[in-house]
Amino acid sequence: MNKKEKSKRGSFTGQIGFIIAAASSAIGLGNLWRFPYLAAKDGGGIFIFCYIILALTFGFTLLTTEVAIGRKTGQSSLTAYKVVNKNFGWLGYIASLVPVIILPYYSAIGGWVLKYLTVYCTGKGQEAVSDSYFGSFIGEIWAPIIFMLIFLACTIYIVYSGVEKGIERFSKILMPILLVLIIVISVQALTLKYTDDNGITRTGLEGLKVYLIPNFEGMTFKKFLLVIMDALGQLFFSISVAMGIMVAYGSYSPKDSNLMSSINQIELFDSLAALLAGVMIIPAVFTFSGIEGMSSGGPGLMFVSLPKVFDSMGFIGAIVGAVFFIIVTFAAVTSSVSIMEAIVSSICDKWHISRHKATIFVAIYAVIVGTIVCLGFNLLSVDVSFPNGSSGGILDIMDYVSNNWLMPIVALVTCILVGWVVGPKYIIEEVEDEGKYKFGRKWVYIIMIKIVAPVLLFVLLLQAFGVF
Ligand code: PHE
Repeated sequence: MNKKEKSKRGSFTGQIGFIIAAASSAIGLGNLWRFPYLAAKDGGGIFIFCYIILALTFGFTLLTTEVAIGRKTGQSSLTAYKVVNKNFGWLGYIASLVPVIILPYYSAIGGWVLKYLTVYCTGKGQEAVSDSYFGSFIGEIWAPIIFMLIFLACTIYIVYSGVEKGIERFSKILMPILLVLIIVISVQALTLKYTDDNGITRTGLEGLKVYLIPNFEGMTFKKFLLVIMDALGQLFFSISVAMGIMVAYGSYSPKDSNLMSSINQIELFDSLAALLAGVMIIPAVFTFSGIEGMSSGGPGLMFVSLPKVFDSMGFIGAIVGAVFFIIVTFAAVTSSVSIMEAIVSSICDKWHISRHKATIFVAIYAVIVGTIVCLGFNLLSVDVSFPNGSSGGILDIMDYVSNNWLMPIVALVTCILVGWVVGPKYIIEEVEDEGKYKFGRKWVYIIMIKIVAPVLLFVLLLQAFGVF
């Protein structure tokens, strides 16, 4: 690539800009609705313990690999893997396909979040309490499409504004607010107390114990393995790897910065946000709905269970609900920005067109397919069964194919490429930068990338294909 082309690529202003932007991508709906739910389901502290160990080993390995590939090649996923090894160009296509599939349905979910934000900010939170509210909203034809378009418009605006003036600038504003609000709501959650119709009183602090203290009741070896697989799948999604995002962000990160310290900080922020999301949600749900209230995950937790919890809190619940949906909106926007950016930067690198043209092109695609995803809950409703036993409509199909199949495949092939084809040295050299920086946990990295990570990913894939 000549100098002129290179200078046209955006870049972050420095190490902090990169860390905040990458952390904003990582901290998303996964942290807020999936982590707390899995922790509640998988024995509290047991899940958290597995998650932290995996984050320090498996997560750190994948994140380091992708960011280093991006920085070393100066390319986004579509073209970067070919530079690493000319026989692996195809991996770039699969890695770039993942955000293409995710962007439209993430925007549809972003639209739901905006709808709830509007409901709470206009003081109508009580309307959201009934069980059928969420279902009838997504069953409508126009409203979900309109909210999706507004969400998408915010995403497009930020990506269109560029790496520094858009992504970095907005992340720097939204992330600190998000973290402060999460801490405020978490502290508030611990002060809760409620006596239900049966005269049983539960408190937020008891809920915190349910969340943090390992619960070995009924734990068998097989169940423990399932907990590990849950933690693995969650971690994988949470740090935004295997979809080209971290490769693109790595390519925008400053050449002379300390990669290892950036990676550690991104992981720290992501794990902290997930842990705090649990403190924010589990004690509240436990206090007002008991253990049974925690059984719904995903959309059910966020759009059905939590409105009930906010309602039970009385007057303050209306405010907590509004703040909560502000948090979720910020997290969702910054994540969807990174998904769109992965596609836009790949198009720019491959076809050498301007960011503005590429953004408009991706925007048109997202509007069309996003609309189809919204219509999947009414006019285009289907019900397809998946090999792992679950089933669903258009959104679930896209989620299943990208998360359960393509992402583990991309990560697995990346491990083989780095571990066995070009060798871990390829990444280690980029991190150490001619001896300038120390690669902490280097041995962990080598063992993980060559053996442990591929094995874990292979098992995750088998699980997705319904083998066990
Ligand atoms: N990592 C984000 C989360 O934890 C989700 C995400 C998925 C972000 C896909 C970008 C792309 O929710």
